[in-house]
Parts: sequence; C-alpha cells; structure tokens
Amino acid sequence: MAHASASKTSTALTAAPSPALSGNMTVPGDKSISHRSLIFGALAVGETRITGLLEGEDVLATAENMRRLGARVTRHEDGSWSVSGVGVGGLREPAEPLDFGNSGTGARLVMGLVAGHPITATFTGDASLSARPMKRIIDPLTLTGAEFHAREGGRLPLTLKGARAPLPIRYKLPVASAQVKSAVLLAGLNAPGETVVVEPVPTRDHTERMLAAFGAKVEIGTDDEGLREVRLTGEPELTPCDIVVPGDPSSAAFPVVAALVTPGSDIVVEGITLNPHRAGLYTTLIEMGGDIEIMNQRDEGGEPVADLRVRASALQGIDVPPDRAASMIDEYPVLAVAAAYASGLTTMRGIHELRVKESDRIAATVAGLHANGVKVQEFEDGMVVEGRSGHVDGGGHVATHLDHRIAMSFLVMGLGAKKPVTIDDGAMIATSFPDFHQLMRELGAVFTIPNTAGSNAAGSRP
Ligand code: S3P
Repeated sequence: MAHASASKTSTALTAAPSPALSGNMTVPGDKSISHRSLIFGALAVGETRITGLLEGEDVLATAENMRRLGARVTRHEDGSWSVSGVGVGGLREPAEPLDFGNSGTGARLVMGLVAGHPITATFTGDASLSARPMKRIIDPLTLTGAEFHAREGGRLPLTLKGARAPLPIRYKLPVASAQVKSAVLLAGLNAPGETVVVEPVPTRDHTERMLAAFGAKVEIGTDDEGLREVRLTGEPELTPCDIVVPGDPSSAAFPVVAALVTPGSDIVVEGITLNPHRAGLYTTLIEMGGDIEIMNQRDEGGEPVADLRVRASALQGIDVPPDRAASMIDEYPVLAVAAAYASGLTTMRGIHELRVKESDRIAATVAGLHANGVKVQEFEDGMVVEGRSGHVDGGGHVATHLDHRIAMSFLVMGLGAKKPVTIDDGAMIATSFPDFHQLMRELGAVFTIPNTAGSNAAGSRP
C-alpha cells in the first residue's frame, strides 16, 4: 500500500532495463470474484466470510457501496472480510450517491442489483468511468421495469429507479460482456419466474458459478441456435458462503510477461485461477513459444487453480484467434508488449471491445508501442504488432489515460528494453494491483520515480 500512495503524490514512473527476474510471487485476489463475493454476500441471509479479497480501490468502492445499500461489511485483523447480507429484495435506499471510482464492473453489476429493488440510487465515477458506455446495461434493465436518467449517450452520473415489481426477461447479449450478463441475472434475482441470458460468445462464468454456490437455481444449456444459455430461477433465498478468492490471472499476466521478456528470468507465480474463460493469454503465450510450466493444478473454492513457472523465452508472433478474445479481453495490452519482443507479426483482431475499457486500449497500446520504437498497424477492431526479436528500444514516454492495465503493461516493457520506459501516471495501478511495485521489485524489477532527487539513475541495456 505504501507504494500505491507514493505513486499518488508523484505519479510518473520509470521501468529500467532490469537484471534477470527471479523468485516466487503471489498476486492479489481475482478482481471479478472479489466484486461478486461482496455483492452476493450482501444479498445472502447471514454472514459470508471472504479470504483473499483483492483490496484494490475498485473492490473497496464496491465494499463501501454495499454498506450504503444496507449490508454490514467488515474487514478483520487477519485480512479476511465478512458481509452480513440483507436478503434478496432487502436492500435499502442509499442516502448518498454510490461512487464507483474507476470500476466498470462494480458500477454495472450494482446497477443490476438496484434495478431489482424498489429504491433509487445515483451512480458516479471518475473521468474514465464517466466516459464509458452504460446503454448496454440501461437497455436490458429498462425491460425489467427499471428507469434511468443518464447523461447524453447513456453516461455516468446516472440515477436509477429500481422496479417495484421487476419482470423476468429473456435477453440475448448484443455484445460479449460478462458485466451485462451479470447485471441482467442480478436484476432477475428479485423477479418471479425465470430470467434467461443468451450469450453469442461465452464470457467469464463467475456469476453463474457463485450464484449456484450461494444456493440459487442456475441452469446452463443451449438455445435453438446452439448458443450458451443461462437460466436463473428468481426469488431464491441465498445462503451465505465461505469464499476463498484465487489469484487474479489478469494481474499475474504482468509478472508472467515480464519474466518472458527480461533475459535470464525464472519465476513462479503461485495460486492463480486458470478458469477456462480467463486463461486465453496463457494458451496464447505458450503457442508463441513461452516457457510456461503449469504446476500443482488443484481446485480451490470451486475454481481451477495452478502455479506457473515462467522462464525468459524467444517468442514468435502468431495470429491470435478472434474467438479467444473473451477469455483474455483484459490481457491484450500486455500481450502486445510480449508481441513487441517476439519475432515476426502478432495479429490481434476481433477486439473492438477494447475501445470502451478504462481507456481506448487499442489506441493507448498503439501509441505506447510507437513511442518505444515498435511498429504496429492499427485497425478499428485490433492491431498487428511487428516484433523486434527480443530487442525493443524503449526510451518512450507513455500516456496511460487513467488505465491501470496500460500503466502496468508499459512498465513491463521497460524491464527488457534497451532504454527505460516512463509512464505518465502510476496511480491507477492501485485500482487492481496495489502492491505491484513492491512485488515486482522483489523479483528484481528496477522501477524509479523520474525527475526527482531520489531517482536512482535508470540505466541502459548494452
Ligand atoms: C469483467 C468483465 C469484463 C472485463 C472486466 C471484468 C467482470 O468486462 O473486461 O475487467 O468481472 O465481469 P466486459 O463484461 O465489459 O467485457
């Protein structure tokens, strides 16, 4: 946490050419599962215990908002959390606006929750979240009977008046989005009868898995066209759970790529979930020739978990299959960094959704690669990176646009480059990976604060 707050006062950061990374690392708890643990816990009758909760700013905002909606959320001295829920239908109207900071997941899932209750709430967020599209949530939730007053274009801040008698709906997702799927299912919890979501492309399934664990009736099937269909029976009594949150594969992506591109590295990242809807990056890196050994595979709290041993590797560019996008949607910026170190071209298409994440991640990644001497062709739905066969110039300044994953991706790039890479703002890293700087330094990464007396001169790789 100390590093997160240090980066708040002096937000620019430099990653310098580093010695071989080595050692073992545990990454923080999965962000998707952490949000859902707090939200479902708030709807259960009784006390849910959570260990390994991600204590990043995004999840802490959800914790605070669950309090505002009437749940008792407590952090214990041993680092575990408990949530005393109010029961499905039992949320109270918040006296203050619900502020979600940078978190699209928190905001969108809680919109689903509020839509199914006869209460009114105002949703706010930072500049990045206030620029993100909410129409994808407003449209289906309006069908359940909820009413929205949003800014032009369906942006935050918005006020949501939940339905007095919510209707169960059948909804086919127009975009591959676990957030939209989850919002519809959450609204359906307080509706009589069956709420059905049809997914053209399967997305992360934590909501389905966890709702079933909390005692809801959730069935997975296929519709007439063979598409994945999730059917939820409304008005269940949710029973509290003991949740162990596994390590986040999206956070593990940064040390994993760092080890692949920093010469001589050999690290182990422990305890990450390899849920098949989340593991696309690892499949891709292995196809690129990455030396990644999947060890000690086990089941923890209903999720497949493993340790990864990663050694520096000569990577080759590949065509990433577009139908893999949903299983690695947050990992493309750091994959583009790996692709910069590979030989040959890496093609990433079918990822238009990246344009509406915490930033326009295609534009931000392309600009960051260019700034560091890497050629890349931009398309509306993706990019093609021309790999530098292990020799990335670096030396660039990268604009992060309030986006934690852009920040971490380009810090990773600097570790294996010839010259240091500087990002304009490391503060947002605290939204998902508060101890990133410290844990990476423990592996041997050289991070410095630029233009200060305390900066230990960031050197060059010969
Ligand atoms: C998430 C779903 C994804 C992902 C986000 C977390 C979730 O967003 O990008 O970081 O926890 O449901 P979309 O559902 O918008 O693709």
